[in-house]
Amino acid sequence: MTRLISAQYYWQNMTQDIAKQIKMASRQDELVKKIREVHQELRHAYQKDNASLTSIWQDHVKDATSRKKYSDAMLELATECWPSTDNRISWCYSVIRDYFYLGLFQRPVEKFCRINDLPLPSTRGTGHDNHGGKKLETAFTLSAPHVYTERDLSEMLILTVRGSSQLSSEDKVRLLDVGSCYNPFRSFPDLDTLAIDLSPAAQDVHQCDFLSVNLREEGEVGRGENGEIVALPTAHFHAVTLCLVLEYLPAPSQRREMCRRAASVLKSGGLLLIITPDSNSPHRNAPMMRSWKQGLSNLGLHRIKYLKQPHLHCMAFAKLTEPTCQDLLIDDDDFFFIPQDSQPLPASPPPPRTEGDNQAVQNMFDALPF
Ligand SMILES: C[S@@+](CC[C@H](N)C(=O)[O-])C[C@H]1O[C@@H](n2cnc3c(N)ncnc32)[C@H](O)[C@@H]1O
Repeated sequence: MTRLISAQYYWQNMTQDIAKQIKMASRQDELVKKIREVHQELRHAYQKDNASLTSIWQDHVKDATSRKKYSDAMLELATECWPSTDNRISWCYSVIRDYFYLGLFQRPVEKFCRINDLPLPSTRGTGHDNHGGKKLETAFTLSAPHVYTERDLSEMLILTVRGSSQLSSEDKVRLLDVGSCYNPFRSFPDLDTLAIDLSPAAQDVHQCDFLSVNLREEGEVGRGENGEIVALPTAHFHAVTLCLVLEYLPAPSQRREMCRRAASVLKSGGLLLIITPDSNSPHRNAPMMRSWKQGLSNLGLHRIKYLKQPHLHCMAFAKLTEPTCQDLLIDDDDFFFIPQDSQPLPASPPPPRTEGDNQAVQNMFDALPF
């Protein structure tokens, strides 16, 4: 009897779980559809008339209703449907931690320098440096500076992971999370995060169009009356994240501009982290990834880590050189493309019949001999 009751109880729980999962999956489909619709609308407008990119983007920025629908859907999708152990955010954090606090990127940076005939960094082991009144560990420094100076590098790689949660704000990694939506990096106390978005979905995310915000060489982050960001200093942030943001933009030239701006606000030696979705096998879109790698390297951003997760490409780039003038000569579209750029426009429905069309049909029938 007891067995029968526990089997019944187990069965009930299982069916409830399955029903919950089915409901969740269909809610997820609805949210993804809303998000895709915004991407598609922008892309189709651009495909139809790519000369009007500026006005297409301005109209989108003015369209608060559709952007609000998007940000509500994204917030719900990321916080309620996707698992809390979210891999894209924790991947970015782990790379930032390894790079800045543990100095684990000495090898890839050295390799990059060797291949490109740049001065090699010299290992200082666990030597100590005095930074901001604290004794901090230097992972490595450069024997001779390139665009990155010894000070840049030691500032980049100074912090030990020990006690990093008690660091003062000057010692924390300064992160700019572009297209943050709901500020997922707020849960990491050793990051000093500035979260910005065209359509913020949380109070600690500041409104800002990163494609048009004023970038200035001197000064601080500029804020408007309502907390929106109106200016960002160049060479200021240790790290910039673009998580699922580049594919929002309909034009390859806008994606390139976003990356160029990210490079500009980064300190030399700083990190750009890019996450882009792709459910295909690792090799299917390899040409696209090679192309981005080349485009970013022309902007002075050199890939030091790459991971293909089941639905994502995860990439980390270090700002190690000045942009080459080469990228000015090559067409933007050669680099920052995504597979959706080449999807054909959906066939448009035939235009509705006018009164004139009806009359023409009538006349044709009138002319027939029966
Ligand atoms: C798919 S969501 C990604 C949200 C978050 N990064 C994540 O990984 O969950 C893309 C976000 O990029 C933002 N975005 C697109 N273009 C932007 C721009 N020019 N400036 C700032 N944010 C932008 C959108 O408003 C949207 O919230």
